Amino acid sequence: MKVLIVGSGGREHALAWKIAQSPQLTKLFVAPGNAGIAKLGECVNIKADDISGLLAFAKENEIDLTIVGPEAPLVAGIVDQFEAAGLAIFGPNQKAAQMEGSKIFAKELMAEAKVPTAGFKIFTDVNEAKTYIIEQEPPIVIKADGLAAGKGVVLAASVEEGIQAVNQMISEQAFGEAGRRVVIEKHLEGSELSVLILTDGESVLPLASSQDHKRANDNDRGPNTGGMGAYSPCPLVNDQNLEEIVKSTGESIIKKLAEKGIVYRGILYVGLMLTDKGPHVLEYNVRFGDPETQAVLPRLKTDLLDILHQIAKGKLTTQSLEWDERPCVTVVMASGGYPGSYQKGFPVNGLEEAAQASDVVVFHAGTASLENGQIVTSGGRVLAVSALGETLKAARDAAYQAVQKISFKGAFYRGDIAHRALQSDVSMKNS
Ligand code: AMP
Ligand code: GLY
Repeated sequence: MKVLIVGSGGREHALAWKIAQSPQLTKLFVAPGNAGIAKLGECVNIKADDISGLLAFAKENEIDLTIVGPEAPLVAGIVDQFEAAGLAIFGPNQKAAQMEGSKIFAKELMAEAKVPTAGFKIFTDVNEAKTYIIEQEPPIVIKADGLAAGKGVVLAASVEEGIQAVNQMISEQAFGEAGRRVVIEKHLEGSELSVLILTDGESVLPLASSQDHKRANDNDRGPNTGGMGAYSPCPLVNDQNLEEIVKSTGESIIKKLAEKGIVYRGILYVGLMLTDKGPHVLEYNVRFGDPETQAVLPRLKTDLLDILHQIAKGKLTTQSLEWDERPCVTVVMASGGYPGSYQKGFPVNGLEEAAQASDVVVFHAGTASLENGQIVTSGGRVLAVSALGETLKAARDAAYQAVQKISFKGAFYRGDIAHRALQSDVSMKNS
């Protein structure tokens, strides 16, 4: 099978790494890819949001399956365009991708399907939003309706911060059309959990659980990021709880979409908060998580390409997945300044040495290769270093040992990935 993966981050490197192991693969292209991905397949210089460029490439090269990494092209309708041209593509179509493309669409659907989520109100008028904020007890959660490159969620610690957020979103249009409508919702307390569900719109096949670390600094301090590390499985849920979560927050919403004539084909990412009143949905994403994918795929034994192809063709026939029992820990190495502004172009050293340890994979997230072969930083999140271990602690130690072999100017990473699970007294055997 000739495969095209769309995207350029750590998630796409992990997908490419897994797909490259499939006996069904004959040729792998990645658009645009990065310096790490280039070792697994041919990088093509087409951006992930250039849908017509990608379509022309897929036609010309007779691609058998296109796999879409990031959300933006999905929300913009890449799947509809490929399917109209008779090309197989993995991911939800434009209507289904509203699950991530519009927070309001997702919230209203959750209310209809009785999926537990934080109570919310929708605003388009800035003065009404401010009046409401003044009446709330902080922290106040404010979300732009549309895609805002990961910056559309504000956890305001005070009424003043809340007012500033709605001013920016609604009046100043900091996110353009995406912030014209906002959701203001209750703040939930608890531990976060990510559940990724493969589906053809009818059958579901959940991947192993994982937990992301959103804040930039240790002890969950500092600004929210795209994710600074992850581990899988998450011992906070056992198999039975996970099954219930998949039913009540995944299958129920996929069914509700189907009732509306929207067939969800692809992967549905359910972001949850495990509160003392049970699991509540924080958000849905319509793609693989980043960096969850880098922690989950090294544990997957089943051929992923086969499954993604089945779904793209319309019928998921695989009924179970085979997993490596060993936990996996992923540590993200980022550029100094991320998630704010940062410099690029610094040489990255020690990559080969770090990857020499068995059961360690260094996924590239934001790297580029110079003409002389030197790899340099080119993004906020630069690398995602994943390691498997007999225990969560062994996996964590192996990941950090590898991280310590890698250096680039200004590099920073969190020192406490998987700390929650290691501190809690929960047995990994449970999960
Ligand atoms: P979202 O893009 O909606 O997942 O929001 C990004 C991050 O903000 C989540 O992963 C949580 O860490 C946090 N968050 C979102 N909504 C809430 C909420 N209602 N209560 C507490 N934290 C939240
Ligand atoms: N790790 C969070 C996300 O992929 O959105």
